[in-house]
Amino acid sequence: MTATPNTDRLAVERDRWVAAPVIGRPFFVERAEGARIWDVDGREFLDFVGGIGVANHGHGNPEVVAAIKEQLDSYLHQCFSLHSYEPYIDVCRLLCECHPGDFEKKAFLANSGAEAVENAVKIARYFTKRDGIICLDNAFHGRTLLTMTLTAKMVYKQGMGPFAPAIHRATGPYPFRGVTSDDAIDDLHRMFKNQVDPSEVAAIIYEPVQGEGGFMPMPDDYPMRLQEIAAEHGILIIADEVQAGMGRTGTPSAAEHYGVSPDLMTWAKSMGGGMPISGVSGRADVMDSVHKGGIGGTYGGNPLSCAAAKVAITQVLDPNFQDSAKALGARMRSRLDSLAENSNLIGEVRGLGPMLGIELVDADGVPNGAAAAAVVAEAFDKGLILMGAGVDGNVIRVLVPLVATEADIEEGMQILEQCLENAS
Ligand SMILES: Cc1ncc(COP(=O)(O)O)c(C=O)c1O
Repeated sequence: MTATPNTDRLAVERDRWVAAPVIGRPFFVERAEGARIWDVDGREFLDFVGGIGVANHGHGNPEVVAAIKEQLDSYLHQCFSLHSYEPYIDVCRLLCECHPGDFEKKAFLANSGAEAVENAVKIARYFTKRDGIICLDNAFHGRTLLTMTLTAKMVYKQGMGPFAPAIHRATGPYPFRGVTSDDAIDDLHRMFKNQVDPSEVAAIIYEPVQGEGGFMPMPDDYPMRLQEIAAEHGILIIADEVQAGMGRTGTPSAAEHYGVSPDLMTWAKSMGGGMPISGVSGRADVMDSVHKGGIGGTYGGNPLSCAAAKVAITQVLDPNFQDSAKALGARMRSRLDSLAENSNLIGEVRGLGPMLGIELVDADGVPNGAAAAAVVAEAFDKGLILMGAGVDGNVIRVLVPLVATEADIEEGMQILEQCLENAS
């Protein structure tokens, strides 16, 4: 590993001149492969973030790249609202295969996670003829006006209201902080009495494993209880699988771990193997209910992205891919558990399969965002790309490409261990 602290001030200044400020790091990527990134200054980084969960298949996955090249020679943009093309249909079929549940399904393609969520909400409202949407504490569903409203963390919305109407936030389970599944379900019933009548609710949206909100898997019983309550009131369930789906937890969907079959599911990130594409899959009767023209868009399901997604989703559906993702998750989990035994900073290791996070706390158990920021910064200087999560910024998330080698994992874990020691 050749990483040293950034010295290319010119590159950083170039960024400042023309790019609107997002959070970005001071390095410029030259190439990336598997779980590694090299920058224009010749430094090598181990990537435990994967472009925020987009690189489950590894950077530059050869099969994905080959499919894109082949599609390039046939045609580029077409617009599915105008005429059909096979790659779009193939991806819809594969998304439906990823969607658990013994019922007929259909799918719709868009460009980003937020756009998928927006469309799922539109479809749910149209089908139910209701407008209320219930979302959870610590949720992240995107940055457009509607999805920003569904998102919990204030940093993503402060100063950007007014927000979309008819959105209601329920208590989300957070066992480490004492909020149990029972508490969350009780709060839902309280909401139905005090805030919104269930007959006015179109859908409940939740992430089976909350991502940005702190890498929090829902408690085992919660998704099924939610599904049963929703069914009782004619409310649809939307499972947002944008970050947790596509093999991230070892299976095509995270919902699968809970034995539930959501009415609608949203997909993006690793679905495209690095290309921008998203989708909504769902019950055929729900998807078919929308009038022609009600959903669509110019670029949704772009042929190049579909060519990439067809390969990426096919890989995720392969039992060998799933087995090796689960093995990687188990290996990382045991490494993180042993780090936690020796570190007073780690309050909890949690996750599902290879979607793992550690929550950092101070001596009193209070969220320690400063320590998480210090670990992420020092890890970067040592050549390991990490990222925080959680409403208090005190969770370090691991979204390492699922093709990472044992050596990659070991090297990353050693850097993480050192950084945790130094931050203690
Ligand atoms: C669960 C979830 N939903 C939706 C989104 C929004 O996706 P996008 O950034 O592609 O709009 C994200 C992004 O991180 C996400 O994690």
